[in-house]
Amino acid sequence: MPQALRLGIAGLGRLGRRHADNLVHRTRGCVLAAACSPVPEELVHARDALGVARLYEHYEQLVQDPELDAVVLVTPTALHADQAILALEAGKHVFIEKPLALNLHDCERVEAVAAGRPQQVAMVGFVRRFDRSYANAFAQVSEGGIGRPFLVRSQTCDRLDPSGFFVRFAPSSGGLFMDCSVHDIDLARWMLGQPKATRAFASGTIAVPHDLAPLGDVDNAMGIVEFEGGARAMFYASRTFAHGHEPSTEVIGTEGKLLVGAGAARDRVVLSDRHGVRQQAVDDFFERFANAFEQEMQAFVDACCGRRPVPLTLQDATEATRIGLALTASLKSGEVQVIS
Ligand SMILES: NC(=O)c1ccc[n+]([C@@H]2O[C@H](COP(=O)([O-])OP(=O)(O)OC[C@H]3O[C@@H](n4cnc5c(N)ncnc54)[C@H](O)[C@@H]3O)[C@@H](O)[C@H]2O)c1
Repeated sequence: MPQALRLGIAGLGRLGRRHADNLVHRTRGCVLAAACSPVPEELVHARDALGVARLYEHYEQLVQDPELDAVVLVTPTALHADQAILALEAGKHVFIEKPLALNLHDCERVEAVAAGRPQQVAMVGFVRRFDRSYANAFAQVSEGGIGRPFLVRSQTCDRLDPSGFFVRFAPSSGGLFMDCSVHDIDLARWMLGQPKATRAFASGTIAVPHDLAPLGDVDNAMGIVEFEGGARAMFYASRTFAHGHEPSTEVIGTEGKLLVGAGAARDRVVLSDRHGVRQQAVDDFFERFANAFEQEMQAFVDACCGRRPVPLTLQDATEATRIGLALTASLKSGEVQVIS
């Protein structure tokens, strides 16, 4: 039996807790040996609820722990690049939540350090690639099932959170395109065969009154991206859907099209009564992608152990940031952005 991979996790917030729970209870071939957070209650949670023994207040302590083989970063996006580089330089494999970084210089710094350490895994968490339906769609596109794919329409739409979480999150998220559409951007490139983006245009609006305007963000936005060779993508992101969480992606080809995720129905139950005919909706991305988050962590652990190749590259993550930045710049300026 090969020894279990020993992991440390940094960040035990909204998503970090879910990853930690998966690593402890569902991911095979690993041990969650350490956790790091500047928030004492989060370390108490790691110790008491998850049985994590080694607890660190400072990230530098976590990466220097000689007992660890790998680090999982679920920290605020602005910290990703420096923390990923510290992990790689300490000889650890590293998983980095999306987006890799909020500027291209940071993406390229991580790529450069990782390129010098090809024996270490550096993987960015584009979770939808690990969803069964998206994987099936990709397989069918790859096998030529819809001919030559040339257009992707993809959306990430959250149910309105009346607590205002997304407003508090806005200063560190990079905005709607970098936070939400970055998933759709990655999917579009994946489905279209990684074409180079050449131009982007975006427009947005604030549909529900709250304090986003001073932060330069919007709660609904659309973007169009052109790629070399003629492929195109259209993105829509919303924080204000009334009924539930509704991501979906349509891939259109010369001989057919594929649709992943029509509507927000939770399951196949349809209630018909005197009010009409209706279904319950998916609450949030945790619910929609619960299985994909499990598969993603398993893929990372398996890659670290040499059991399968890393399923996506840092270059993919850099390109997603490049396109997300161009859309964000267009949203703010109203101008078409040339992507170089
Ligand atoms: N894949 C997805 O669908 C998805 C969904 C949500 C969030 N994310 C990404 O995950 C990351 C975290 O998002 P979140 O919603 O969990 O945020 P969050 O604010 O809830 O959690 C951030 C965590 O980082 C910790 N932290 C802050 N500074 C730290 C430091 N210096 N060292 C160690 N820990 C530190 C905080 O204590 C907190 O536990 C972001 O990059 C976000 O884009 C991805």
